[in-house]
Amino acid sequence: MRLFLRTILFIIVFGLFASSVSIAAGNAEQGKIKAETCLGCHGIPNYKNVYPTYTVPRLGGQHADYIVAALKGYQSGERSHGTMQAQALGLSEEDMADIGSYFQSLQ
Ligand code: HEC
Repeated sequence: MRLFLRTILFIIVFGLFASSVSIAAGNAEQGKIKAETCLGCHGIPNYKNVYPTYTVPRLGGQHADYIVAALKGYQSGERSHGTMQAQALGLSEEDMADIGSYFQSLQ
């Protein structure tokens, strides 16, 4: 009986550990690869679209959670901006987390 309880306890503790690892912060290395297209607009200091003229916000050093929240907002349509909605559409939750931690790592 004791062994049985210990086994159960082990499974619960191990399960918690494993799930906390899987929800850990995104992978900045992966994010760097996934953010390649983003940098076309977001990587250029003071970059403005030719027409219509609007400034592209700076993402480097931005908090990862903020970037993920913004991308989800574009994806759901809560934030409306044609270009960014199109950009966010193809991203999975993992992609967003990876991209977020990559931008957060830039200063
Ligand atoms: C064609 C240019 C372009 C590309 C490519 C692009 N963005 Fe953007 N992004 C913009 C513009 C312009 C805005 C400002 C939109 C607005 O006013 O809501 C923006 C806004 C954002 C914001 C919100 C920032 C804030 O402070 O509100 C995030 C986050 C973001 N982009 C992430 C990304 C990511 C991640 C990618 C790549 C998957 C990407 N963008 C690709 C032009 C671009």
